Amino acid sequence: STSEPIRLEDRIRDIQDFPQKGVLFKDITPMLQDGPYFRAAIERLAAHYAGADIQAVVGVESRGFIFGAPLAYLLNCGFVPVRKFGKLPAETINIEYALEYGTNIVEVHKDAIKPGQRVLIVDDLLATGGTVEAAIELVEKLGGHIAGVAFLVELSFLKGREHLKDHDVFALIKY
Ligand code: PRP
Ligand code: HPA
Repeated sequence: STSEPIRLEDRIRDIQDFPQKGVLFKDITPMLQDGPYFRAAIERLAAHYAGADIQAVVGVESRGFIFGAPLAYLLNCGFVPVRKFGKLPAETINIEYALEYGTNIVEVHKDAIKPGQRVLIVDDLLATGGTVEAAIELVEKLGGHIAGVAFLVELSFLKGREHLKDHDVFALIKY
């Protein structure tokens, strides 16, 4: 029997009014549960950055960790967590940002990024862009070079890309 090519969007479902009324939430958990789909997503991201000389992958807690860690593994580079406030034990810098639903503070270890290091920022989803904009600012404060910004899903209608306009933004799926 022949197998159909994997269409990642077949494993993303819509949840109305989560986490609050008026938000149409794209739920990626069906894709994470399906081994060949999850693997295809990671492999497609890795293929896009093969030869890009990525020296560190930065993932944003918590869903950015799910994609960032296996991607760093395939790209043979280190993984740097950007975490919610109060979770990292050593010296940090932090930044507050606006979310589609609320505000948040994220931080990173001061010694996690070296000046001039080529960094790929990874998250599951681009909505307003606030989260990844904060991660970019943290990396740039430490002297890192943003070599790319990668997502599984981009919600194009929220225009998050406009917040990231100086940077090379890539998404596997766009709505
Ligand atoms: C979600 C998502 C992105 C961000 C996208 O994370 O995983 O990080 O929001 O929104 P934005 O582009 O408007 O900033 P959330 O803060 O809900 O945390 P989680 O990953 O821990 O679920
Ligand atoms: N889906 C999943 N995660 C999100 C969304 C969404 O619509 N908006 C902000 N984070």
